[in-house]
Amino acid sequence: MARRPRSLTGIQPSGMPHLGNLVGAMEPAIALQDTHDSFYFIASYHALTTTRDAAVLRERQRQVAMCWLALGLDPERTTLWRQQDVPEVCELSWILSCFTAHGMMERAHAFKAARDAGRDVNMGTFCYPVLMAADILLFDSDVVPVGKDQKQHVEMARDIAQAINHRYRDAVLVLPTPVVPTQEDRAAVPGLDGRKMSKSYNNHLPLFLPPKQLRKRIMRIVTDSKGVDEPKDPDSCTVFALYKLFATAEQQADLASRYREGGLGYGTAKQELFELLDARLTAPRERYQALEASPQRVDEILAGGAGRAREVARARLGRVRAAVGLN
Ligand code: ADP
Ligand code: TRP
Repeated sequence: MARRPRSLTGIQPSGMPHLGNLVGAMEPAIALQDTHDSFYFIASYHALTTTRDAAVLRERQRQVAMCWLALGLDPERTTLWRQQDVPEVCELSWILSCFTAHGMMERAHAFKAARDAGRDVNMGTFCYPVLMAADILLFDSDVVPVGKDQKQHVEMARDIAQAINHRYRDAVLVLPTPVVPTQEDRAAVPGLDGRKMSKSYNNHLPLFLPPKQLRKRIMRIVTDSKGVDEPKDPDSCTVFALYKLFATAEQQADLASRYREGGLGYGTAKQELFELLDARLTAPRERYQALEASPQRVDEILAGGAGRAREVARARLGRVRAAVGLN
C-alpha cells in the first residue's frame, strides 16, 4: 500500500500560543491529520536559543503540548513529542551543517532580524535553520505546514536535502514542500496594535485566558478615534480583521454594514468580537483545563509519541550515515 503523505510541524515553547499561531499555523496543521500521516513536535532545542530559565522552559513545553491536544490533535492518529526526546536530530543537524553554505545562513530572516535588533546572536540562533532542516528531513516529511515567516526556512531544508541527494546521486532525503495559508488575512493575523500579532511585540491574544482577561485584552485593541455616530471602515480596522477570522459570511456582512452606517461604537464591536472568540475557545479551554488536571495523561501521550518518532528517526539517520560514509 502506498504510504500516506507525511506532514510535520513544530512549534517553539515560547509561551502560551496566541490567536495568530492558531490561525496561521496550528489549525491548518491539525486539519492535515485527516489526510496525512501527521507529526507534531515541541521545538524545545529551538527555544533554548532564547530561553534561559529551566523551570520556564519546562513549563512552556507542557503548555504547548496541552494546546495542541486541546485544539483537537488526536494522539491516537498522530505523533506528538518533545524535540529532545529524539536527540538523533542533533546528529543529523551536524551532518547537514557540513553541507550548508555559511552565506545561506546569513540570509535567514530570523538571524537577520535578531542581528538587526541588536539581540544576542549565539551559534544556536545562527544555526537555527539547519536544526529545523534536520527536524524536517529526519522524518521524511513531504509537507510542512507553517506560517509565512517560516517558509524560507523550509525552502532552505529543501535546498540542503537537494545538495546531499545530488552529491551522493541518490534519493537520500525526501524533499519537503512548505504549506502556507493562502489567504493573506490568515498568514499574518494582526495584533492589538495593528502590527503582526507576536509574543515578542506583546500585542497578542493568548489562547486560553480566563474570559475576563481575554475581554480586557480585546478592549485594548487600538482603533482610530471616530465617535459612535460616524461611519467607519471595517477593512482598515483590527477589530473587524480579527472578527472576520471566526465569523460566518452572514455575521461578517452584518457587522461590516453596521460599521459603514455609523451608530456603532468600537466598544460594541469589541464586545461582539469577544463573544465570538469566547464561544470558539470555550470547548478547547475546557479540554485544556482537563489536561492540566491530569499531567500523567500528557506525559503518556508525549512518551508514546517519542517512541514512535524515534523509530522513524533512527531508520532515516542510519541511511544517511551509510550514504555519507559514517556507518
Ligand atoms: P511569535 O511571533 O509569537 O513568537 P512564533 O514565531 O512562535 O510566534 O510562530 C509560530 C508559528 O505561528 C509560525 O508558523 C508562525 O509563522 C505562525 N504565526 C505567528 N504569528 C502569526 C500571525 N500573527 N499570523 C499568522 N501566523 C502566525
Ligand atoms: N522555527 C519554527 C517557528 O519558530 C518552529 C520549528 C522548528 C519548525 N522546527 C520546525 C516548524 C520544523 C516546522 C518544521 O515557528
